[in-house]
Amino acid sequence: MKQKFVIEGLAGKKVLNGEIKVNGAKNAILPLLAATIFLDKPAEFSNVPKIEDVARMLELLKMLGSEFEWTGERTLKIDASKLSSQVLDNDNAKRMRASILLTGPLLARFGKVSFPHPGGCVIGERPIDLFIEGFKKMGASVSEKNELFEISAVNGLIGTEFFFPVPSVTGTETLMLAAVGAKGKTILKNAALEPEVVCLAEFLNSRGARISGFGTPEIIIEGGRLFKESTSSRLIDGRTVDKVFPVIPDRIEAGSFLILGALAADNLKITDCQPAHLDSLIEALRFSGVTVEVGSNWLAIKNNEKVANETLRAVNIKTREYPGFPTDLQAPMTVFLTQVFGESSIHETIFEGRLNYVVDLEKMGANIKMWDAHRVLVKGPTSLKGKELDGPDIRAGLAYILAAIVAEGESTINNAYFIDRGYERIEERLKKIGVKIKRVDCEVC
Ligand code: EPZ
Repeated sequence: MKQKFVIEGLAGKKVLNGEIKVNGAKNAILPLLAATIFLDKPAEFSNVPKIEDVARMLELLKMLGSEFEWTGERTLKIDASKLSSQVLDNDNAKRMRASILLTGPLLARFGKVSFPHPGGCVIGERPIDLFIEGFKKMGASVSEKNELFEISAVNGLIGTEFFFPVPSVTGTETLMLAAVGAKGKTILKNAALEPEVVCLAEFLNSRGARISGFGTPEIIIEGGRLFKESTSSRLIDGRTVDKVFPVIPDRIEAGSFLILGALAADNLKITDCQPAHLDSLIEALRFSGVTVEVGSNWLAIKNNEKVANETLRAVNIKTREYPGFPTDLQAPMTVFLTQVFGESSIHETIFEGRLNYVVDLEKMGANIKMWDAHRVLVKGPTSLKGKELDGPDIRAGLAYILAAIVAEGESTINNAYFIDRGYERIEERLKKIGVKIKRVDCEVC
């Protein structure tokens, strides 16, 4: 049964109040689950978000022969030690770009893997040429027919040096995973710096891998063995993890809620997050005139009702790889910029199809001009009117929720599944801070 969200807008009033907790990071747990393919014992993770993409990844792993159980509200135990297949299910793998993360460990552990070109959000072409080039440099042979890939490394993978012409998050994670099982040393250059890459490397090291340089553009992996589960290890921020590995907070969820706070809250506290992962957004909001309070694991927007949108000023945004402004917050930030005074430019440098949603914001009343596939100009403030919208992907879907909350009147956002892919029970959490939102079943929506 398909579902949609129905939202009664606040017509620009800043009246939301309370606290909203951030869950574990979607883009951290997905590579962590792929990493369990190397372990000869079960692994347990805490702070696991209960979102659709985790369910899809668990389905893929189950089809390969993994077993898993929820040992707590958000604690998950998974045993991939007895895998029986190296063929990714076509339908499931095509539903989620992150399915490609499984190819690295499967190839390294079994010497072969078959998979379809992964699907995922329609935000651009989403090529996988860097993954293929990396596997080839590690000694694998690749054949492709009708977008089905067969990769084999009958003598195992060999460590190599690989330079990413563009930093790729899942490309870095997948080749790091492959390198853990390769013989010898691998050096990944121009690697992604994202916190989710760091989290994966820390987990692998806590299970006996030997990875250094993560969080910098040059990652060195001493590969060559499956490893036994170690008891505990120190993380780079000094914490020690015991057998249960904590998933880092979702910085994109935290950033989405911070933007909601700036748009429609009087007092909003965002808890259980990692503010250090959000410097670029915090600075952009502060530049605009929003007062953002930063705690050790929380963020807050206070007494915001007194701040008129006309006093908030335009900000030019250019998305960049971490620690630059995240492309996953570009759509939510555009909604904010429709409400502030002046002309803001938004330059999406990562994906070529990630600005298409602005057409729907214009239908709601936003004043947005598209320069080209990568750049738009937003003039504000404009009042928005409720509309029926079709969420095109995870992050634009969340942006539509923000726009609907700001708008006057009722909005309907179809394709609730897309939002559920990345945000757990979003309507329940938003209701608690005063948003008038409900989830509705619908035959066709
Ligand atoms: C990851 O996608 C995230 N997904 C995306 O989040 C995020 O938007 C993106 O990184 C950028 O931060 C996960 O981590 C599961 P890339 P990924 O490879 O790895 C080009 C969300 O909503 N490229 O870093 O697929 C590519 O076209 C999702 O949570 C190649 O050219 O993105 C893009 O221009 C959406 N060849 C650039 O690299 C390749 O082989 C960065 O993409 C691979 C990538």
